[in-house]
Parts: sequence; structure tokens; C-alpha cells
Amino acid sequence: MATIILGIETSCDDTAAAVLVDGKLYANVVSQQLEHQTHGGVIPELASRAHVQRIIPVVDAALSKANIDKKDLTAIAYTQGPGLLGSLLVGNAFAKSLALALKIPLIAVHHMQAHLLVHFIDDEFPTPTFPFLGLTVSGGHTQLVRVNGAASFTVLGETKDDAAGEAFDKTGKMLGLPYPAGPIMDQYAKKGTPKFEFGKPKVEGLNFSFSGLKTSVLYFLREQQDKDPKFIEKNIYDLCASIQKAIVNILMEKVERAVVETGLTQLVLGGGVSANSGLREALKNTNSNVFLPPLPYTTDNAAMIAMAGHLKLKENQIDSFYSEPKARLPI
Ligand code: KG4
Ligand code: ZN
Repeated sequence: MATIILGIETSCDDTAAAVLVDGKLYANVVSQQLEHQTHGGVIPELASRAHVQRIIPVVDAALSKANIDKKDLTAIAYTQGPGLLGSLLVGNAFAKSLALALKIPLIAVHHMQAHLLVHFIDDEFPTPTFPFLGLTVSGGHTQLVRVNGAASFTVLGETKDDAAGEAFDKTGKMLGLPYPAGPIMDQYAKKGTPKFEFGKPKVEGLNFSFSGLKTSVLYFLREQQDKDPKFIEKNIYDLCASIQKAIVNILMEKVERAVVETGLTQLVLGGGVSANSGLREALKNTNSNVFLPPLPYTTDNAAMIAMAGHLKLKENQIDSFYSEPKARLPI
């Protein structure tokens, strides 16, 4: 009998559902909450309310696109954390209730693990083999991990302050760009030259830091705007190219070091910032065997949750119906 997993993702501002049949993706529906754009960041209360309104239509859409009746589901995988508690709670309550009603297993998935395990979806991706080096780069996380198996992750290094995506979003906000600024900065960077330099962080080991860059950009902009109030407007493309280059350099320095220190030959990327063209380009020039997710699977989606659920189910890692969402959850 086929293994049919319904994946549900509600950790932040995307309500998503996916159906995976024997490791193959049959449906992947994402409803992006655009209401946060005007606020310069995700408003947790707005996000939870939007999840409540969208979760049923999104799951319905995924099931009908996959042409699967809910009675045929083998298990339900949902994002347990990390993320915004109110948002996670919606997915948790929905997944638990449906799994209970259908009398099928519930699988709790770690959001950042799923960003890396998305590469195991059949057909669409070249698939890495365990163990591999993982780099997760999203709006809330930046970590280098050793991935030993589907549920065995060891943190090698992580950001001591902001995440890489946050660095894009916060500096983008300083440039007057809407949230999330990352994808726009990526587009603008293509039209500019990285001619401005910002201070480099000094962080021990395989850890990262992005808050110094943020401050450095802030002071630089203040200084330049004092001389020319239209500085940002006149230099927006070069500013985006310069900030993007600085972020990519911070990431690449530690990635290259991790490759040498671990001896791992496969480097697997996951998370929203893995969509960044500058980072993708820089990674192509390394000696590692690099696995980049196709663009639709870089930002939050439920295909990755369903895939992680599929792998966990194979290892019989089923959760109890007392399962709780966790805003903070170590990888
Ligand atoms: O993984 P994700 O969808 O959500 C979290 O788990 O946080 O990542 C969202 C982050 C945002 O900070 C967004 O600005 C960034 O990924 N992002 C990008 C690009 N696409 C998304 N950053 C730089 N370049 C991009 N092309
Ligand atoms: Zn994410």
C-alpha cells in the first residue's frame, strides 16, 4: 500500500499544505500572507489569524490537487517548531484534530531539519547521501550542521545574533524596501556593482554574526545621507549589490572552513536565503558537491514537512497526540 503523507506548515507567515505519495510530490500549496508587507515585518497576531482563516482551504486545495481523499492518508506531518507560537499552534491543533479523527499517526517535524530534508523528494532533486554538511539560511536561522541521518543533526556553528535573512530584511528596510526585502535586494543587486565595503565580523569557530554589518550599513547610510539626502535613491542597486556581497562573504568564509574541518564532501543548502542568486553563484565555485534546492522549495513550504514526515515515519518516529508546538526547538 502507498505511503501518503499530508504535510502542514504554519511556522511563520506562510500557510502551506502538501501531499507526498511514496516520496513523490503530488501537491504543494502555499498561501503567502501579504498583509505583513506594509508593516515592515511579520506581525505575529496577524499571522495566526490568517493561518486560522486559510488552513482548511489550503489543506483542501492540496488534497484535491493530489486527487487524494483524506481517508486515504497514511499520516499527518506538521511543523512543531521553531517559529511563532501562535502560528505553530494553528498547524498543531489542526494536524492533531485531523489525525485523531482519521485515527492515523501524527508526526512532529522540525522546520529547519525539513528545509534540508526537502532534497530527498523523489524525481525533482538530486539527492544527497548521509552524512552531509548542511547550511540552513532563513529569516530566523543561520546554522552549519552535520546531518548524520533523517533525525540526527549536530550543530557545528550558528549565528550569534541576526540570521542571514534578517540581515537582508533589516538592511533592506533601511533602504526603504518592503518586507521581506531579501528577494528584492537580490533582484536589485543584479543591476548594481558591489562598490561599497562594510566591516567584517570576527566570530570564533564556525559561528556567524550579522549584527555588525547591520550597524555598519546604518552608519554608512547616515553619513552619506547627511552629504546627499538622495544618496539611497541614486545608489540603490549598488547598495543592494554591496550588502548582498557582504552577507554572502560572511556565509562563504564559514562554509569553506566547515568543509575543510569536517571533511564532508556534500554541502546541502536550505531556507529562504538559499534562493539568493549571489549565494548560489558563490557556492558553485567551491570544490564541494553542492545541493541547491529548486527555487520553489527554498522558502517555506509544506513539501519539505511532508518529506521529513515520510522519512521519520520510515524510522517509526511517531508523535503523541499530546504533542505541543515549540517556538524554540533545538535542531
Ligand atoms: O525559510 P524562509 O521562507 O522562512 C523562515 O523560515 O524564516 O526564509 C525567509 C527569508 C526572508 O528573510 C527573506 O528575505 C529571505 O528568506 N529570502 C531571500 C531571498 N528569498 C528569500 N534573501 C535573499 N535573497 C533571496 N532571493
Ligand atoms: Zn523556513
